Amino acid sequence: MIQTPDAVEIAPGTHWIGALDPGLREFDIILKTANGTTYNSYCVRGTEGVAIIDTVKASHAEEFFRRLEQVASYDEITTIVLNHLEPDHSGALPELMRRAPQAKLYISTKGQLMLKALVKDAALKYNVVETGDHVELGGRTLRFFTTPFLHWPDTQCTLIEEQGILFSGDVFGCHFCDARLFNDQVGDFRFSFEYYYQHIMRPFREYVLNALELLEPLPLKLIAPAHGPILREAPLSYMQRYRQLASPLLHNEVGANNKSLLVFYISSYGNTARMAQAVVDGAETVPGVRVSMYDLQAGGNLPFVDLIEEADGLAIGSPTINGDAVKPVWDLLSSLAVIKVRDKLGAAFGSYGWSGEAINMIEDRLRGLKMRVPIKGVRARLIPTEEELALCRDLGVQLAQHLSGTVQNRVISMSELFAQEQSHA
Ligand code: FEO
Repeated sequence: MIQTPDAVEIAPGTHWIGALDPGLREFDIILKTANGTTYNSYCVRGTEGVAIIDTVKASHAEEFFRRLEQVASYDEITTIVLNHLEPDHSGALPELMRRAPQAKLYISTKGQLMLKALVKDAALKYNVVETGDHVELGGRTLRFFTTPFLHWPDTQCTLIEEQGILFSGDVFGCHFCDARLFNDQVGDFRFSFEYYYQHIMRPFREYVLNALELLEPLPLKLIAPAHGPILREAPLSYMQRYRQLASPLLHNEVGANNKSLLVFYISSYGNTARMAQAVVDGAETVPGVRVSMYDLQAGGNLPFVDLIEEADGLAIGSPTINGDAVKPVWDLLSSLAVIKVRDKLGAAFGSYGWSGEAINMIEDRLRGLKMRVPIKGVRARLIPTEEELALCRDLGVQLAQHLSGTVQNRVISMSELFAQEQSHA
């Protein structure tokens, strides 16, 4: 049974005043939370002021205020810092500002829009801070680091310089509720830490690497994230793990100067498979492009997603069955939300019996993922003819040329699209 602790001192003058949510089993609809979660908030006391770092979800505000009142009175609060304005951290902000009207609020530049949406008060006053800005509390200096897209545009981290304590927001956090609070005392939370990265931070791994450039040089003694255990034992190892998780892999497999094209297919009667092989055959004639082919029927989405994250281009072959692409194709495409695919090259092809909608549907989805789809896909009615296989080889050549830079990116005109549609009709 989890006991609810009082405010907990995490370093001299700095207390955890957050809230525990052990019963939560799903976060933001998409995330399983087998151990519940915590909404971590902190109170920092200096000789000349008191700061509150982040608040909690509105449903847990009472718990937060109870702990706050154990370590500070509202009229002492000079500073409120919101590292991130998602409602699980800003839910109690309006009430805190009502109780401590003299306190100055500090947010990132990108936080302004969200703040105005959250606190419907035209007279609201706040201060915008960027990397390097600081606030003095008297013997405690809060230094700000802008770390956008971890995992919203507004995210930032705040450091107590004198103590080497980093309030990191969501980054380095996880959904894991344990009243023992500290990473050297709670249960084994490695799964939750990795799961959180994979589902929340992974689509933004370039921003993770940018943030690490800022944060790794800091002389940190403790990382205090907005969810899950407080990292006081070997805090830098969690940063190192983030660097491993966010660093591109598979360079050896592809080669530093090569581009990678993945051709996925699924086939009922072998027709789409033949088209896939033709796409591969065409692409392989272009130097500098490593081509790989996979049967979706025999693979798992997770390893395929890992491969796609590292690839430069993606071609998907699907038959059309009942006017749709088949489920394994949609399963793969819906799995891509956890990685960044924006600007990768995409294409579709496939065999069909009556209508052949799958190709357009896949292309629309790829465009919806912000991928480039400059080449119209190839469709073949039932068994592909030699001419249609030649079109597939040409599709492969064009894809590979786009990747190798031997053709310029181009935008297909409406008249060209229409002409291609007519040729398929
Ligand atoms: Fe924990 Fe992105 O809020």
